[in-house]
Amino acid sequence: MPVITCIDDLKALHRARTPRMFYEYCESGSYTEQTFRENTADFDRIRLRQRVAVDLSDRSTASTMIGTDVAMPVALAPVGMCGMQRADGEIKAARAAEAFGVPFTLSTMSICSIEDVAEATQAPFWFQLYVMRDEAFVDDILARARAAGVSALVLTLDLQLLGQRHRDLKNALTAPPQPTLANAIDMADPRRWRWIAEMLATRRRTFRNIVGHAKGVENLSEIHNWTAQQFDPRLDWDKVARIRDEWGGKLILKGILDPADAGRCADLGADAIIVSNHGGRQLDGALSSIRMLPSILREVGDRTEVWMDGGIRKGQDILKAIALGAKGTMIGRAYLHGLGAMGEAGVTRALEILRRELDVTMALCGERDVRNLGRHNLLVPGDFEGSWQE
Ligand SMILES: Cc1cc2nc3c(=O)[nH]c(=O)nc-3n(C[C@H](O)[C@H](O)[C@H](O)COP(=O)(O)O)c2cc1C
Repeated sequence: MPVITCIDDLKALHRARTPRMFYEYCESGSYTEQTFRENTADFDRIRLRQRVAVDLSDRSTASTMIGTDVAMPVALAPVGMCGMQRADGEIKAARAAEAFGVPFTLSTMSICSIEDVAEATQAPFWFQLYVMRDEAFVDDILARARAAGVSALVLTLDLQLLGQRHRDLKNALTAPPQPTLANAIDMADPRRWRWIAEMLATRRRTFRNIVGHAKGVENLSEIHNWTAQQFDPRLDWDKVARIRDEWGGKLILKGILDPADAGRCADLGADAIIVSNHGGRQLDGALSSIRMLPSILREVGDRTEVWMDGGIRKGQDILKAIALGAKGTMIGRAYLHGLGAMGEAGVTRALEILRRELDVTMALCGERDVRNLGRHNLLVPGDFEGSWQE
């Protein structure tokens, strides 16, 4: 077993231990992957100010996100097919998040259902909704989320249709995998056998939020066609307002990358918005989330909490986002690498790595409390924002 010191170490194990189609489903962006690459690269352009001779005892990474206490300002982002990275992946990730003290978000496109996760955890979790054409399905899933004690709805606005990911098509991505020669060869690798054994031992191998709940959906293993048929291309601000009213609880709007849209979300009374380009999986060519964050913060001020996701692989990245003004962050791949590498223990390890990096970096910046981070901790290149013409 290699010594694990950073998220990249978990990523290498994830790659070795997981069938190729699922690792590549995680580790890819749409089209040329420019936005996917820049989400991480742009963090590295921001530099930190080293300060010395500050009492660094009694440090804290604790904060709040929409009034919830968090051990650090990080939530687990909704990810589809988490339960294909490892059997029962959503349950494992939710348990790790609960024990660590950060929120977990369950995707509509998860393998384990809302009820599966509620049964396996104590703390309330968040549920992410994709708006489907079938309105009865949306009504029903909101009622199921309420019945399961879900404490906030994350409504994703940047995926009414799917940005193409070449690798998913080339790998013929399905859940569960089809018995093809290519898959058989891939799974013959002994490093995948634990994945296979755990998958054979669970009954959760397809989209349990949907199959048996949505009308006429018995088999949606071919996710790309299904998404094209079912996701609602008519989703507009009126519909967002209707869903807000129907839900009636805390609402987080995800996939906001433009100040004008952020303003609309604040007008609608969102409790938080997530500055996000879906991890570079949708509009290829969009700017990175970290780069769009300052202009969105300027637009909405303190009318709503502003969080960001996309490209966080280190505690230093979390620090930079918070110091730029985000109240919270979300991580996708950073925890999926932990899950694919080592299951529940791997998600815990990913969270520990990020918190330790955040804590030490904060201290070396001369700060004891994550809530005191600000622009004074950063050196931001002159062309970081504002050099793009409309
Ligand atoms: C494999 C994968 C599946 C995803 N599935 C969903 C999803 O079902 N719903 C959603 O709102 N976002 C989804 N996302 C986007 C994440 O919620 C988040 O915005 C993104 O992962 C953040 O970027 P990062 O992975 O660089 O941290 C997915 C991302 C990945 C990597």
